[in-house]
Amino acid sequence: MKIVFATNNQNKLREIREILGDQFDVVSLKDIGCDVDIPETGNTLEENAHQKAEYIYDHYGLDCFADDTGLEVDALDGAPGVHSARYAEGTDHNSEANMAKLLNELGNNKNRKARFRTVIALIQREGDNVRCSREYRFEGIVEGHIATEKHGNEGFGYDPIFVPEGYDKSFAELGEEIKNTISHRARAVAKLADHLKDE
Ligand code: IMP
Repeated sequence: MKIVFATNNQNKLREIREILGDQFDVVSLKDIGCDVDIPETGNTLEENAHQKAEYIYDHYGLDCFADDTGLEVDALDGAPGVHSARYAEGTDHNSEANMAKLLNELGNNKNRKARFRTVIALIQREGDNVRCSREYRFEGIVEGHIATEKHGNEGFGYDPIFVPEGYDKSFAELGEEIKNTISHRARAVAKLADHLKDE
């Protein structure tokens, strides 16, 4: 089954293809010839995921899912949250700057509780008419805490400073195989996969 994942992030594509397995042909924005920077102007992860999936469905008429992820830190009232990609001012997806800012904001705070939350919006055609579609949402959460410094080299984004509950190593130390079994995205994608396989 062919389905568009509204991203060009190779890390996410690899993770999702691994989780979904061979029965789904997951294609990227590049694969469908879309080189637009799809607007993500929502105030929530849900709104952003919806915006991206809707853009592809409306412009290409293809079944599509989009995700949005945020790191929610309790002591920072849920920040960086929906602003995770551009947390450090004047930057975009600059993981080093984002992690430096987060560690700085938290300082020596003893409450380091945090979670990654992923929301996936899926838009699927219903029947033969492209105008008839239905939207589904899937959420995945992994609880954990923010380390006092960076550890490990694998993964991406905030992985070096996020330690999932039940482990004493960061996602960047645990590596992709373990991360893919417990991560926020893995959990959201598992729900997406259950839905797709049920169809
Ligand atoms: P996005 O909007 O879903 O691409 O993610 C927002 C921000 O969260 C980006 O800065 C990503 O690097 C970061 N992020 C998303 N997923 C992960 C993850 O699995 N590990 C670490 N950071 C992530």
